[in-house]
Amino acid sequence: EGYEAYVLYAWGDPVSDGPAFRQDASNTAADQAVQAGMHHDALHYFAMVEGSAPSSTHGLLVVNHEYTDDGLLHADGMKTWTAEKVAKSQAAHGVSIVEARVDGGRWTILRPSRYARRVTGTTPIRVSGPAAGDAALRTRDDASGHVVLGTINNCAHGVTPWGTYLACEENFNGYFVNASGSLPPEQRRYGITAKGFGYRWHEFDERFDAAKHPNEPNRFGWVVEVDPWDPRSTPVKRTALGRFKHEGATVALAADGRVVVYMGDDERFEYVYKFVSSGRYRPGDREANRALLDEGVLHVARFDADGTGRWMPLVHGQGPLTAANGFASQADVLIRARSAGDALGATKMDRPEWIAVSPQGNDVYCTMTNNSQRGAKDRPGVDAANPRAANVFGHVVRWREAGGDPGSIAPFRWDVFARCGDPAHADADKRGDVRGDAYGSPDGLWFDPRGLLWIQTDISTSTLNKGDYANLGNNMMLAADVATGETRRFLVGPAGCEVTGVVMTPDLTTMFVDIQHPGESPSERADPDRPKATSSWPDGPSGGRPRSATIVV
Ligand code: FEO
Ligand code: CA
Ligand code: CA
Repeated sequence: EGYEAYVLYAWGDPVSDGPAFRQDASNTAADQAVQAGMHHDALHYFAMVEGSAPSSTHGLLVVNHEYTDDGLLHADGMKTWTAEKVAKSQAAHGVSIVEARVDGGRWTILRPSRYARRVTGTTPIRVSGPAAGDAALRTRDDASGHVVLGTINNCAHGVTPWGTYLACEENFNGYFVNASGSLPPEQRRYGITAKGFGYRWHEFDERFDAAKHPNEPNRFGWVVEVDPWDPRSTPVKRTALGRFKHEGATVALAADGRVVVYMGDDERFEYVYKFVSSGRYRPGDREANRALLDEGVLHVARFDADGTGRWMPLVHGQGPLTAANGFASQADVLIRARSAGDALGATKMDRPEWIAVSPQGNDVYCTMTNNSQRGAKDRPGVDAANPRAANVFGHVVRWREAGGDPGSIAPFRWDVFARCGDPAHADADKRGDVRGDAYGSPDGLWFDPRGLLWIQTDISTSTLNKGDYANLGNNMMLAADVATGETRRFLVGPAGCEVTGVVMTPDLTTMFVDIQHPGESPSERADPDRPKATSSWPDGPSGGRPRSATIVV
């Protein structure tokens, strides 16, 4: 009560003065390339500076478009399959940059805008850092290994102090197929399969055939830096931050000004990483700050049973990361970061998703969304940091660096902030310890400037309101007081959605939130031709295509 919410920017809305969205999905690939992509995920508000103060009524919104539902994207779903459809699917991926302003008391998208831009699955992106130009990044179409077409599956994000946006590449493996019957070990380690996730891009864009183009998958799974203030700038894949299924890239500053990036690899039994730059952030010197993410040390986390943890460096030649152990170079260590983490004995986590750093004391929080396979046959068992078998509800791990300094690589202290789930559940492995409103599958996580922790849930449509989730309700966003642990539900999304991405204006009066895949049906993957939507939000009232959207609260 007391809040107002409305839709600001939905899939298909033009970023500038381009073509309007058509509800029958008859927009072309060329239209889609200048319209909002599908499946909004992370977002950020970059305030315009008016006078000397950041504006709370005028700024740039940058939004990730994680993936496509091709049953909704095309007028006849996937019944037919063409190069045009692949192009439209690729154009619906990537990042949006739009200009937003309060006009007559309501937020609107400014059209036209000189900042408006789409970065898509085919936009040229420069590769920088230690792996740039490495032989493993060279392909038929890019003999240099320095330019990749596109960024895909951009899930969570990061924001740098110098005003750029970090779009993270998560489940890139799903776009590739390798039907050769003999997967190279490095493709298998990153989850490439004979069929992929069903995007069918390889049928008209051969680089997604990983049997024919085995190096192409090495060009995805990176963090991509985008400068929203310069629509002509070329985004950059920063290889020093390692290659894995990047959920997000949360930036903090070390006490001495070096740049720290916390990152999760969102898959069952994968790792938590931390990059520490060599150089120091210099306020006001945008040019000098541009290269900070190219040089530094990537680390992977080990959470020990005594409540301490270690950051272990992914540095070629150190520890097990030697040529004798199959690691050819620093580029190789970064491209195969997961294998490096394996060699170092990092702790296998329950799907590390978003990471948030408290503005009061720098405590770091990371959502472990769930891991139903924890403790299953031939799978890792419980450990101190992943304490529940068949962990369907997930948990939130918290750590404090030595001296509260994000730049410290000394042993840190950690604990479990919250075990999610119904506090009344009969099974101790599923019982939550949250005080207040219960939730499960925590995913999005963000500290507002006051130190209130916002938690967003991503309960899969296949389990929502069923079985162990029967008492937990819809996907939602909650606010937690980290001092007391009290958690309260703030908003609930429309049917079939996930709530993801949140930021506020500097004056804390406006909150932007993304609503992803409203109307998703549990039979979605089984019926890609045209799944029956469970909601037609936001266009309604019934029968319409549901659309992911950024809302204003
Ligand atoms: Fe795209 Fe891990 O959520
Ligand atoms: Ca996520
Ligand atoms: Ca998600």
